[in-house]
Amino acid sequence: MYSDEQDFAGMELAARLSAEYRREVANAPSYPTAGYGEIHARFDGPVPEEGTDGLTLIEELDRGARDGLRPIVGPRFYGWVNGHSHLAGVAADWLTSAWGQNCAGIPMTPSGAAVEAVAVRWLLELLDLPAESSVGLVSGATIANFVGLAAARGELLRRQGWNVEDDGLYGAPPLRVLIGADAHNTVFSGLRYLGLGEKRVTTIATDDMGRMLPASLEKAMAADSAPAIVIGQAGQINTGVSDPFAVIAPIVHAAGGWLHVDGAFGLWARASAKHRHLLDGIEQADSMATDGHKWLQTPYDCGFTIVRHEQAHRRAMDMTASYLTRDNEQYRHPGAYVPELSRRSRGFAAWAMMRRLGRAGIARMVDEDVRVAQHLAQGIAAIPGVEVVNQPELNQFMVRFGAGTTPEEGDRLTQLTVDQIQRDAVAYMGTALWRGRLVMRVSVCSIATTTEHADITIAAVRAAWKAVQALA
Ligand SMILES: Cc1ncc(COP(=O)(O)O)c(C=O)c1O
Repeated sequence: MYSDEQDFAGMELAARLSAEYRREVANAPSYPTAGYGEIHARFDGPVPEEGTDGLTLIEELDRGARDGLRPIVGPRFYGWVNGHSHLAGVAADWLTSAWGQNCAGIPMTPSGAAVEAVAVRWLLELLDLPAESSVGLVSGATIANFVGLAAARGELLRRQGWNVEDDGLYGAPPLRVLIGADAHNTVFSGLRYLGLGEKRVTTIATDDMGRMLPASLEKAMAADSAPAIVIGQAGQINTGVSDPFAVIAPIVHAAGGWLHVDGAFGLWARASAKHRHLLDGIEQADSMATDGHKWLQTPYDCGFTIVRHEQAHRRAMDMTASYLTRDNEQYRHPGAYVPELSRRSRGFAAWAMMRRLGRAGIARMVDEDVRVAQHLAQGIAAIPGVEVVNQPELNQFMVRFGAGTTPEEGDRLTQLTVDQIQRDAVAYMGTALWRGRLVMRVSVCSIATTTEHADITIAAVRAAWKAVQALA
């Protein structure tokens, strides 16, 4: 038998173990007690000659991997920018896998395609973006940026009479790429994949928090008449700030350019009546990228590319073959907006999270995370010798330890304190470089993080800093 009762038992065990893990991680955040080497050694060995049953392998996987899991879904996890992989989204994702729905086209999965179509319409409504936009569901903001930039490249060259999709870039008229000095590294990957070159860009100066300076953009636009792709961002990875879109979009469009915005997490500020003003004018952008697995709290992986010029989006991504029949041209074709052919039906989990939280719930979550970030920043700033580099206007901020010492000593003390916080394992924060100096980064992007958890976190930071000072 290709499958048997033990495989079904493995499925049921996986559901039970998942629930057990999630209850545990919510109540007792802990840290991976086993490291990569130990976990690797447990799983390594010769290729198994014979298979094992589905129940045994799930037991083996859980036993071998559990203590090397990082509690990303825990309530005091502030590393990188990670959502909560909400239980409702996870459950929908289980069904997606169990149903085995390949969302390459409508004939392959009427349900996958239809639910995805509803999810993308809801997305546009929740973020109050132009209804005529086309949306592709991809693996995350990295690929969403790539797709938006591919549409930009094709459209700007098409306007000059060049068909890049057919003829490639050899001999094409020149394009320029202008990008803020504090952009996320993933947009550079997109430029690399597209033959636009990650170093062949004009850098636009930013303010002390990372917002593009319109005067610098205006000057760079005027310096050359080649059409420009301008890459802005909603939500800088360290400071959370966004570019002044209402000012920069008209500058870009007046010169015949295309504005792409990386809004991996920041775009969700649009869902909040309180914070949407931070993104004023973003609706004028030609393309945008955002994640579901950050502020929408879907499980991995889920990202969205939003393009205001559907034909440009389709020209860049659509693919056809005689065996991929399309008998429903009146409907949205899910494969027309993404680079993959076979892919999981991500629309189910995206739909599930919007259905679970609703418009009001998403707005409340964004508001609450911003409030918690501000509360955390205030509490940490009140600790003597600790400096909060930016009071968060959204959900991201940075901290330095050793205020009043030399910059080098501040770097050293910051590293030691972050190491201590990670060892104490009450909360997780990481580090980054900001303006050449080491900072502790704090990202609040989980529906599970509350003021109560923020207070526990402030106490943990205070204790770690005290321990470092005692040794110094
Ligand atoms: C601003 C920004 N852009 C892009 C990305 C890449 O997103 P993903 O990891 O989902 O591909 C991130 C991830 O943290 C981000 O914060």
